[in-house]
This record gives sequence, structure tokens and C-alpha cells, in this order.
Amino acid sequence: ELPRYVKIVEVGPRDGLQNEKNVVPTSVKIELIQRLVASGLPVIEATSFVSPKWVPQLADAKDVMEAIRDVDGVRFPVLTPNLKGFEAAVAAGAKEVAVFASASESFSKSNINCSIEESLARYRAVAEAARKLSIPVRGYVSCVVGCPVEGPVPPSNVARVAKELFDMGCFEISLGDTIGVGTPGTVVPMLQAVMAVVPVDKLAVHFHDTYGQSLPNILVSLQMGISTLDSSVSGLGGCPYAKGASGNVATEDVVYMLRGLGIKTNVDLGKLISAGEFISKTLGRQNGSKTAAALGKK
Ligand code: HMG
Ligand code: MG
Repeated sequence: ELPRYVKIVEVGPRDGLQNEKNVVPTSVKIELIQRLVASGLPVIEATSFVSPKWVPQLADAKDVMEAIRDVDGVRFPVLTPNLKGFEAAVAAGAKEVAVFASASESFSKSNINCSIEESLARYRAVAEAARKLSIPVRGYVSCVVGCPVEGPVPPSNVARVAKELFDMGCFEISLGDTIGVGTPGTVVPMLQAVMAVVPVDKLAVHFHDTYGQSLPNILVSLQMGISTLDSSVSGLGGCPYAKGASGNVATEDVVYMLRGLGIKTNVDLGKLISAGEFISKTLGRQNGSKTAAALGKK
């Protein structure tokens, strides 16, 4: 049975803009977030407090956060790779953070420059600091189906990392197909392995659309009981440390599909499409949402 309501976690301002070749002006990032807020999205991942040497695109995290910190009714989680990032995020007004581990050793090394075990030790420190401040921590697992270096990733590796994140106190675990290679054929066994160790209502899925498999992957995830979906307005995105990865599934396309399934999201599709048009035009990109393209023609 499908869920009646799905929570959409909009990751465009972070996962999308971290991958833009040209630096996006801070004012554009803030306007994008404000437009996404206006569309009714409940959670908008705003930016990352990571090393500006690694991700120069998000070096203005403090300014973005300070501009939106007082907006009510919407949650704005930010990525924090270590205590330094956590402290900077809190100082800038973040009320929710996310840590990001990998199911693949090679990707952990290339993305955060440490082993999986080392990253989990860092995240335990972040989770402990966050608990003292009552700040919710989301946990990501990346490369849940495949790794750009190692190829196929065994479901048991994903389950192990997801359980570690859950046990350290992450309130939600987002399972990321970072390079978008999964199909329902690989996603279902991966979800079965994770659901054996983490309750399904604590799981989210995060699909990149490299092979056009996101919507079928989302549909099977919904059928398995998942009710939190990550997506990115106009399909912005990719990962600077995952060569060839394209953007996340477009939020507009997810909302359109959910509407067709009779599932509530509280998102206004028209306003969401205008937010996607705004950022696509400003970046001089083609809008990556097919729903936006189809409805825009009418
Ligand atoms: P490192 O070089 O090993 O760390 O990077 P370090 O401790 O040696 O620090 C290097 C420099 O960065 C130092 O500055 C630190 O102070 C500074 P220096 O002394 O050279 O002037 N530094 C920081 N500055 C600001 N904020 C911080 C911070 N930490 C250190 N938090 C590190 C290790 C983890 C910091 C680095 O590798 C990093 O920032 N990585 C982030 C990469 C990233 O953001 N990747 C994309 C997000 S993950 C993703 O997209 C996948 C996801 O979408 C899910 C999916 O799709 O599957 C979530
Ligand atoms: Mg991602």
C-alpha cells in the first residue's frame, strides 16, 4: 500500500548548486530558496559547511544561512562533514544538519578524504555535539548501489553503514544512488537489506537521474513503504567527486507523479515550476524537468 503523504526533501540549493561550474551569486541562491519556500516544500537543504577548498561553490554557506535562518515553517538542513563544519553551521543559525558517509571505501576517500570508519568516528562526534543542542542530524549513505571506482556495491555494506548512522542517533537515513546507476532490479534488494536493520519510516531515498531510472526507483521505494524522497528542482545537480553523475531526479517530476498516485505533498506545482524556471534561466541551463517542459508549453 502506498503512503498517503510523502515528505519531499528539496536538495537543489545544495546538491544542485555544489556542482555548478560557475560560482552562483549568493543573492541568486537566496532567491532560489525563497521561491522554493513559497512553493510549500517542507524541507530545503540549503547549503554545506564543508571545506571551501573542496567545494568552492558553497563557500558562502554562512551568508546563505544567515539570510534564511529566521524563515518560519520550513526546515533548512545543511551538510556538515566534521565538528568544524557543525560549529560553523550552528553559529550561522542552522537548526538541523546532515552527515554523509559512503557505502564504498573509494568514494569515501575521494569525497571526504578518509575511510568509512574514520568518517563514522567524526560523525559520532557531530551527533554527540548535536544531541547536547537538540539539533536533529540526518545521515546520508552514498553509493548505495554503485561506486564510480569500485562498481557494484553489496547491499550488506549499505545496511552496515545505515545502521551505524541510525545507532549514533541520526533521525533519518537517506540512501543515495550517487551516480544514478540503480534500477528497480538493484534498488529493491538494497532496500530489503537496509529495512532489515533500520525501520522503514526512518528511511529516505535519494536518486540521481543519470540513467533515467529515478522515477521507477522511487515507485518501487514507495511500494516498499518509503515516504521521504530527496529531489532537486529542475533536476539540478551532480557531485563534484562522482564523475559523470547527473542531477537528482527533478522535484517537479516527482510532484507530478505523486499527484497522479493521489499522494499528498503540500507542494504547489505551478510555483515549483517557476522556481525551476528562475534558476534554469539564471544559470543558462536547460530545465531538467520534463514536467516543467511539458506544462511550460501550455
Ligand atoms: P581534508 O583536506 O582531509 O581536511 O578534507 P583537513 O581537516 O585537512 O582540512 C583541510 C582544510 O579545510 C583546512 O584548512 C581546514 O581548516 C578546512 P587550511 O588549514 O588548509 O586552511 N576545513 C574546513 N573548512 C570549512 N568547513 C569545514 C572544514 N573542515 C576542514 N567543515 C573534508 C576533509 C571533509 C573537510 C573535505 O573533504 C570536504 O569538505 N569534503 C566535502 C565534499 C563534499 O561536500 N562533497 C559533496 C557532498 S556529498 C554528496 O553530494 C552525496 C550526497 O548528495 C548523497 C548522494 O548523492 O549519494 C549527500
Ligand atoms: Mg546527491
